[in-house]
Amino acid sequence: MSDRERTAPGIPTPGRCPYQTTGRTQPDPCIDYLHLRSDEPVRWDEDLGVWLVTGFQEATELLRHPQLSSAWPERGRTPLHASDTNRTSELVRKWFMFTDDPVHAEARRVVAPLFTARSLARLRPFVEQTVDELLAPQREALDVIADLAAPLSSRVICRIIGLPQEVAPRLAVWAPDIAALLVADYLPEVVTRGHSALREVTTAVDQALNGEVPEDSGLWLLREAQRRGVIASEDVWATASLLIYAGFETTSTFIGKAVRAALHAGAWDAVRKAEPRMSVDELLRFDTSVQQVARFATRPVTVAGKRIAPGDLVLIMLGAANRDPAVFEDPNLLDTDRRIGRHLTFGYGVHYCLGAALARLEAEVTLERLAARWSAMELSGAPTTRSHHGITVLEHLVVHRRTEGERI
Ligand code: HEM
Repeated sequence: MSDRERTAPGIPTPGRCPYQTTGRTQPDPCIDYLHLRSDEPVRWDEDLGVWLVTGFQEATELLRHPQLSSAWPERGRTPLHASDTNRTSELVRKWFMFTDDPVHAEARRVVAPLFTARSLARLRPFVEQTVDELLAPQREALDVIADLAAPLSSRVICRIIGLPQEVAPRLAVWAPDIAALLVADYLPEVVTRGHSALREVTTAVDQALNGEVPEDSGLWLLREAQRRGVIASEDVWATASLLIYAGFETTSTFIGKAVRAALHAGAWDAVRKAEPRMSVDELLRFDTSVQQVARFATRPVTVAGKRIAPGDLVLIMLGAANRDPAVFEDPNLLDTDRRIGRHLTFGYGVHYCLGAALARLEAEVTLERLAARWSAMELSGAPTTRSHHGITVLEHLVVHRRTEGERI
């Protein structure tokens, strides 16, 4: 038994999954799913009426399975969503994330140039400058989300889409309201707010298109594609709103989770010293912001001896699969030296996260620069979180500088 394993129960154990202790952090969805994987990597959940997939190999197989569809609304269907009051926006249904090939591939191709290595190399100075600016004020306490990760992520999204930077603070309002619409469109208040957020997005897009659109920005690419007849005019709004939804809170939450996990597991020093690419991948594996993705079966699918029937909803639990001991040795250990062949944090297959390299870039720059300025720090308390299916969004995560003699 290692020293780590000998630590008394209830005391945060260095390197261990922080959510398995009773420390000062809040529980994470991850903890709810981890136990599911133990006996059955694919199981039918009677209460939810869905398949839960928690094994890494099984999740990989299903994420690239041609008979599992991403199409909306079916993939978001529950007894509540099936009611007559279903009012999910038409615009959301057009998101290419919620379509299957070939429609999906065509729409994805339009904005893919935003995320090439060349585009990201051009974007890097903007990311570095923004992080430096956000970290410049001298302070003893820092809200990793509100002071750093959220403004960074929103400014980067505006930059790549081609929206003016003044719009960036609005993303903190739009993203939650659109996210709520995706999961609770049976609540009138949610519908009102979600539609209002989408209207604001389309207005901001139209205003930007009426001005000088930066060359090679998302709006520039979308407008060109519309002119060529590759996409319809509503697809410009749809893809802009998709990029806001998919790229903003996922990234800010991941940066917050990375700091939280490293501090709580006593691994901040290790993260500071590790090769950024490796530590970011391990932090992504360890506690991802997107815990699950949904699919529905169009034909019978057999996996791990289970038969998924046509029409069944399948939840692929990325966070639990990333802790599969069959693939990752000692999976609940945060090990910044771990050599990871592949994790499922950004999904797999044709819907693999389009912004994965951008999210990595933002996280690497932020962690590097934060570590340089905040070499010794502590969590000031539990974060403020907002839950919605698949993503526990971090809204506030306050840290303070650790002074000599303070407990780590
Ligand atoms: C740490 C941050 C991020 C995480 C954990 C994450 C995670 C994911 C996951 C799991 C998927 C697959 C969804 C599925 O299979 O149904 C996905 C798709 C997607 N992500 Fe990300 N994402 C992140 C950041 C970003 C960023 C920064 C952007 C862009 C600005 C972005 C844009 C997208 C888009 C457009 C898709 C849809 C891809 C498709 O359907 O082809 N993501 N993301």
